[in-house]
Amino acid sequence: MADTITITDNRTGRSYELEVTDDTIQSLALRGIKVQDGDFGMMAYDPGFTNTAACRSSITYLDGERGILQYRGYPIEDLAEQSSHLESAYLLVNGRLPGRDELEEWSGEIMSHCMLHENAKNLMAGFRADAHPMGVLVSTIAAQSTFYPDAKRVNDPANRMKQICRIIGKMPTIAAYSLRHRMGWPYIYPNSSLSYTGNFLHMLMKKPEQPYEPNKVYEKALDLIFLLHADHEQNCSTTAMRTIGSSLADPYSATSGACAALYGPLHGGANEKVLGQLQRVGTTAGVPALIERVKKGEEKLMGFGHRVYRNYDPRARIMKKMAEEVFAETKATPLMDLARELEQIALEDDYFVERKLYPNVDFYSGIILHAMNFPSDEFTVLFAIARSVGWLAQWNEMMLDPKLARPRQIYEGGRDCKYEPIDER
Ligand code: CMC
Repeated sequence: MADTITITDNRTGRSYELEVTDDTIQSLALRGIKVQDGDFGMMAYDPGFTNTAACRSSITYLDGERGILQYRGYPIEDLAEQSSHLESAYLLVNGRLPGRDELEEWSGEIMSHCMLHENAKNLMAGFRADAHPMGVLVSTIAAQSTFYPDAKRVNDPANRMKQICRIIGKMPTIAAYSLRHRMGWPYIYPNSSLSYTGNFLHMLMKKPEQPYEPNKVYEKALDLIFLLHADHEQNCSTTAMRTIGSSLADPYSATSGACAALYGPLHGGANEKVLGQLQRVGTTAGVPALIERVKKGEEKLMGFGHRVYRNYDPRARIMKKMAEEVFAETKATPLMDLARELEQIALEDDYFVERKLYPNVDFYSGIILHAMNFPSDEFTVLFAIARSVGWLAQWNEMMLDPKLARPRQIYEGGRDCKYEPIDER
């Protein structure tokens, strides 16, 4: 059987045979389909890139119909059970699991980059006290490119790896400082003798006058949250990262752009919105009214639905299980009962069943983080710390064969308009 597809253009009666590789045709092959010789040729129209493969990648495998997620071929459930965030980060960036010495070296390298330049603190001090930590994060990461101008050498693989470790190392520090800035608390310098996640909790929670020991349950839970959020193939923020990186911009600028894409409520901002929605509903008695509003299209059920999952998000399943462990430490929050009730009703309701709307990763993460006393506007910042790993792995892969991102458009505006002087309009 030939790996080709034949398209007949009914406008002209001409047929075209296009090559099919991996169930995919090359969009550029459509350009040969023309009515007249001088025509531009046919394009594929796909706003939101719902069915367009923009790259080849070996990093994350996702089967949304069957609810499968794998990092470099390893099932997310196995990594969640047995790996750590930094080990999975090594896997995502380097393509294989590390040996013991390699993991130690990798962790040491990342932890050696946790410090921020002192001037970065001055920059952060300029924000208003109530500044949203995501706004602070986006700006402070972008500013790092001025501290590390060597990052511009994006074609040098060793230099790219150095910047990758630097950014993964600095994300928790910037995140912790952005929160402490708002609290009016002094910044706590990193402690590289702690784990990646333990050090983040230390920089976030430690009071200068008291010793601090990270809570082991929180440390484990947060590390798992980081691992689960580390990559998710070509999502909105990763696409932003690859797009910005494709112009050969430095990785700090690209990471800042990816963070900005993550900030939106349809992407990484959803966990904050889940919490707000549950708090507004208040008790399980309010659930039926919320479901009705959602079905009338008056609001969306936050933490439900996904562009690629048409099944239960495997990360949500792990997150739900983890919630029970965290609540054994923190005391259960009534929001968890509310979430369970909401999930139960939604999963049985025709509106959700027909549209294949299931809980996504954000549905339970917000509740867990709330129970751990994280302020809700810090949730997306935590997502960004985790996802920086995926952004950088994807950027590094893209840089092996960069191609400037530059989509086409269907122009719908006027043409050849005659300029009228302002007094004659
Ligand atoms: N609540 C109610 N209806 C929904 C929802 C929802 N959460 N999500 C989708 N629908 C409906 C939508 O209205 C549409 O209905 P109809 O066919 O009658 O017009 C149908 O389901 C298909 O939805 P869509 O908007 O075409 O699907 P999409 O792939 O463009 O949207 C989404 C994906 C994530 C933007 C959307 O599901 C959503 O807004 N969810 C809530 C926000 C959220 O939880 N986002 C986090 C995503 S997971 C974290 C991440 O990876 O970033």
